[in-house]
Amino acid sequence: MEAIVEFAEKIPQPVFLALAGLGALVVGKKVLAYLRFVASVFLLSGTSLRKYGGPGSWAVVTGASDGLGKEFAYQLASQGYNLILVSRTLSKLNDLAEELQKKYPKVTTRVHAMDFSRDRDEDYAQLEAVAGDADIAILINNVGQSHSIPVPFLETTREELQSIVTINCLGTLKTTAVIAPRIAKRGRGLILTMGSFAGWIPTPYLATYSGSKAFLQHWSSSLAEELKPQGVDVQLVLSYLITTAMSKVRRANALIPTPKAFVRATLSKIGSGGYQNWAYTYTPWWSHAVMLWVVENTIGAGNSLGIWYNLKIHKDIRKRALRKAEREAKKA
Ligand SMILES: NC(=O)c1ccc[n+]([C@@H]2O[C@H](COP(=O)([O-])OP(=O)(O)OC[C@H]3O[C@@H](n4cnc5c(N)ncnc54)[C@H](OP(=O)(O)O)[C@@H]3O)[C@@H](O)[C@H]2O)c1
Repeated sequence: MEAIVEFAEKIPQPVFLALAGLGALVVGKKVLAYLRFVASVFLLSGTSLRKYGGPGSWAVVTGASDGLGKEFAYQLASQGYNLILVSRTLSKLNDLAEELQKKYPKVTTRVHAMDFSRDRDEDYAQLEAVAGDADIAILINNVGQSHSIPVPFLETTREELQSIVTINCLGTLKTTAVIAPRIAKRGRGLILTMGSFAGWIPTPYLATYSGSKAFLQHWSSSLAEELKPQGVDVQLVLSYLITTAMSKVRRANALIPTPKAFVRATLSKIGSGGYQNWAYTYTPWWSHAVMLWVVENTIGAGNSLGIWYNLKIHKDIRKRALRKAEREAKKA
């Protein structure tokens, strides 16, 4: 200790003051970032949806017939937005449109059934026709597919990897290419795209899904900067698991919310909910935001330790899924 004091006394005062100032700056920046994180996750609400258009304007939701998309449709309808519901199964879309009509008689809905994995030009032309003259304020790029169970990349079927990339990447890009010009033309609007923790931390055994969501991360942030001058807010929504058919998790807990709770947080924290290392990206669910913050401020998202741990988890999930499939095959 004495040696340290002696050494410090030998440092010329201007150098000492400069070093102390630098230290205070570094600590101050960390403290500020922490306070900003806590405020954005627990205290502040995000941009109000009203900024983008009042009741009577339109929202387009892809993957609308189930899970998060269905919940987005419900919550946007409850706020008076008319809806264009896009998904694969027409009967499910019609049922949803009918339910919404009963519950929110003032809301108008249009449906468009298309299979994004087929990547057909006619489907996008038809989407354009369905959009017609609607005053579209909001696009929710929600449609997505993951692997049916975690699988090593080398054992992934060509069909599965083709369909994941076609739906998640091309489907999102082409839908946005149809809808975003309309939003930009009116000078204000919102484009939300569903990202995933798998696109934030590389996820072995879900490699193709992980890559497709990382693709969306860069695409969405690039688009955000391009469309900002035209009054369009573009945000990627980052999330860990939610209780839907895709995750196969049935029971919610603090870490795995229901679609209802997750979508409520997503629509009320637009642009908030803290992911300070990546622009135009937010993590609406509080415990996901905390998890992300801890990783970012310790090992970092691209660290091999995290990727190794992710592999371990997904190997376990695969084993359990295979055992379950075996049991079910024996029963049949
Ligand atoms: N659930 C999670 O834990 C989680 C976590 C992070 C991110 N995400 C992301 O959140 C988004 C929604 O996921 P989710 O959990 O709500 O999924 P989900 O419950 O499986 O619902 C998927 C929706 O997309 C539609 N869809 C699937 N494949 C399609 C295709 N080829 N063409 C057209 N529509 C298709 C489905 O239509 P049908 O009803 O006709 O099948 C359904 O409406 C995805 O982008 C996903 O990657 C989910």
